[in-house]
Amino acid sequence: MDPLLLETLISSAGADVPVPPIARRPAHLVGNTPVLWIDEPFAPQGRGFHAKLEGANPGGIKDRPGLHMIREARRRGELVPGAPIIESSSGTLGLGLALAGLTYGHPVTVVTDPGMEPSMVRLLTALGAHVDQVVAPHPDGGWQRTRRERVAELLVRTPDAYCPDQYHNPDNTAAYRPLAAELLSQLGRVDVLVAAVGTGGHSAGIAAGLRERCPELRLIGVDAVGSTIFGQPAAPRLMRGLGSSIHPSNVDYEAFSEVHWVAPAEAVWACRRLARRHYASGGWSVGAVALVAGWTARSCPAGTRIAAVFPDGPHRYLETVYNDAWCREHGLLGHAPPPEPDEIAEPDECVVTGWTRCSRVRDPLGRAAAKAGAR
Ligand SMILES: Cc1ncc(COP(=O)(O)O)c(C=O)c1O
Repeated sequence: MDPLLLETLISSAGADVPVPPIARRPAHLVGNTPVLWIDEPFAPQGRGFHAKLEGANPGGIKDRPGLHMIREARRRGELVPGAPIIESSSGTLGLGLALAGLTYGHPVTVVTDPGMEPSMVRLLTALGAHVDQVVAPHPDGGWQRTRRERVAELLVRTPDAYCPDQYHNPDNTAAYRPLAAELLSQLGRVDVLVAAVGTGGHSAGIAAGLRERCPELRLIGVDAVGSTIFGQPAAPRLMRGLGSSIHPSNVDYEAFSEVHWVAPAEAVWACRRLARRHYASGGWSVGAVALVAGWTARSCPAGTRIAAVFPDGPHRYLETVYNDAWCREHGLLGHAPPPEPDEIAEPDECVVTGWTRCSRVRDPLGRAAAKAGAR
């Protein structure tokens, strides 16, 4: 196929383009994901939320930024044809980059840590990516810092290699504009968006897109206990996908009305309830988002239109979230979350260990204030 036509077809995946009945390329299957109504047991019947099922993409939510970041890097000439792509990922972006590598013809190396599920290592390898696992966490910056240092080391050693740097690359955020357009065409309007935060890409990109049509939108961020993103101290984390031990600049702190931290046992409870009651479920971020979106539905006036992003499906978590023996070993079973989160007035007021909310959101590194001062 003509390469220009191919690029146009791939970049047009989104709200206005129906999925073609026969996809000629796997990248054409990305986008236009379905929405499922979720109420009980998270909220009373008729008072629920709309879950955007990003697990319906071939790899998951990160197929969108995987393709978009690579397409843009090629367009700018930062990534030359056939050159290697090297990136740090806990898995989902690895799948998106494997898809981008296949689509555009680049070898892909995914740098990760021993917490990556063996099934994910095997899947990435089967899809043609090389998986490079670091062995020890950095004493201050945790696994993410070690992974990023390993990426830097590989980039020096590999001629022409390109790192999309999902934590700080604005193309990661921009990749979610089509998702916002899809939600608007599916729901008409959105009053509240509930989204997990890891690199900050999808919360920032979807909220920016929605606010063009729904300026009063409230954005609720969902983070993991032990994550540093919103100003808590770093602690070991079982939950993957959401949360971080660094401060990604893609997090749009000013866009959030509030943040919730969720603990692993609470996410496990929510994932398992989702699976039983609604068939659609997922992993740590899906469970945490469902818990917070259910509370939002219970707390907001009836008729509030709530969208919650479910970044992936359950299969990757069969040996963790859905494995009784693994969950028992980690003390994660039999802890139903409280009906209401704890509340703190400042994000660093105390160390949170269970579901907690805070309506003061600010960049712990003060970058927004520094930017405003410079203007
Ligand atoms: C499963 C899952 N959920 C949530 C997130 C967080 O998304 P974002 O990086 O866009 O903040 C990620 C990021 O890797 C993820 O893999």
